[in-house]
Amino acid sequence: MKITIFGCGYVGLVTGACLADVGHEVICVDVNENTVSALKAGQVPIYEPGLERLILDNLAAGRLNFTTDAPEAVKFGLLQFIAVGTPSDEDGSADLKYVLKVAETIGQHMNEYKIIVDKSTVPVGTAEKVERAVADELEKRGVAFDFDVCSNPEFLKEGAAIEDFSRGSRIIVGTESERVREAMRQCYGPYNRQRDKLMFMGVRSAELTKYAANALLATKISFINEVANLAEHLGAEIEEVRHGIGSDPRIGYSFIYPGCGYGGSCFPKDVRALANTADEIGQPAHIIKAVERVNDRQKNKLFEKLSEAFDGQLAGKTIALWGLAFKPGTDDMREAPSRALMEALWGAGAQVQAFDPEASNECRRLYGERDDLVLAEQREDTLEGAHALVICTEWKAFRTVDFSALSKTLLEPIIVDGRNLFHPDTVKAAGLAYYAIGRGDSV
Ligand code: UGA
Repeated sequence: MKITIFGCGYVGLVTGACLADVGHEVICVDVNENTVSALKAGQVPIYEPGLERLILDNLAAGRLNFTTDAPEAVKFGLLQFIAVGTPSDEDGSADLKYVLKVAETIGQHMNEYKIIVDKSTVPVGTAEKVERAVADELEKRGVAFDFDVCSNPEFLKEGAAIEDFSRGSRIIVGTESERVREAMRQCYGPYNRQRDKLMFMGVRSAELTKYAANALLATKISFINEVANLAEHLGAEIEEVRHGIGSDPRIGYSFIYPGCGYGGSCFPKDVRALANTADEIGQPAHIIKAVERVNDRQKNKLFEKLSEAFDGQLAGKTIALWGLAFKPGTDDMREAPSRALMEALWGAGAQVQAFDPEASNECRRLYGERDDLVLAEQREDTLEGAHALVICTEWKAFRTVDFSALSKTLLEPIIVDGRNLFHPDTVKAAGLAYYAIGRGDSV
């Protein structure tokens, strides 16, 4: 099948590479010339396990191509995936300008029947806007080609994107058209062998499904973080509570890990956008708004714990920070809890010595060179002259720590663990004060 994908960002690249890998002919389009020429040379601008290999193999096989030539790309594919960004507007609603720009481009250059596939996370009603944008352009040109617009939201997780694309739990397609259903069956056929994962539904239902899924997952996280806060004040231990509730299959163990708040490019943006949609239609979403408020508070927790440990005297202190990415397996720092912490520490006059296995360059790009930030090559280097250690991301490499060596190296024996990686007794036995999430701050 011939497939065009607009957007060489995270979702566009993963979709393009995975579809090319099963034999489709794929062309990925981006307006950014640097991105496209780097990709043509096999340089992948994002870190995602397995993605570079997939892109290199499929480039070499000639099934995957990259271009800035949008008119040619529109003519190429029967399927026209829109996988461009939908950043948060100032008011939190999703900004559709890139999506609608692609729709216009398609309308300006299409010369036969096309199926336009909304892959970007877009508010309910966007498919209709895309349809109008394409129709307007066709009308301006005075031509009449048939086309369909469907919604095909993406559910992949950063760090496990290839796996999620190949073995995801469902493939959702919002459409009323049999022609679209047939084309999507063909497109996803190779990924739909073991059992039928394709779920066809109304366009608006598909659009809402994406937001509802992310909002519910974010709700689970804020919920457990709120209970962790209660546990801290009630003398309970959240890890025991987590096991206790997760064993009920109706609740389950996934997405109830307490921590220093959710980040990334999806949950924060999608929760805000759904709350915004709800306001717009005069149906305020109380739970969803609370999920965001709880998360904002949670992201401040590590700073509060450090302040408490140092009696509010953080000026002049040096804090070792392990983990900058919003979660392991990525170099993405969008809305990462580490950022809230670093910014609060700098505001209080403290110095940060940070290490992350993948995100140092991203951190440098975001914050540039500054006197109060040292980016270390090794996690041990952050401890040199540090008063305390804070952990923001649960990279596997952080799970093994020589606590007695640590308690000798740190100027003050304090560890603040934003991901509950250790057993409090083990840490305390080494003479360290251990501040974690929902564990009674077992100093
Ligand atoms: C999320 C969803 O999990 C995907 O299904 C969805 O497709 C994607 O958003 C999207 O809309 O594109 P992602 O943002 O890559 O994926 O990351 P997650 O693994 O879901 O983690 C999000 C955040 O929640 C991280 O900061 C993580 O540390 C936090 N989290 C997760 C917790 O604090 N506790 C948990 O139990 C689970």
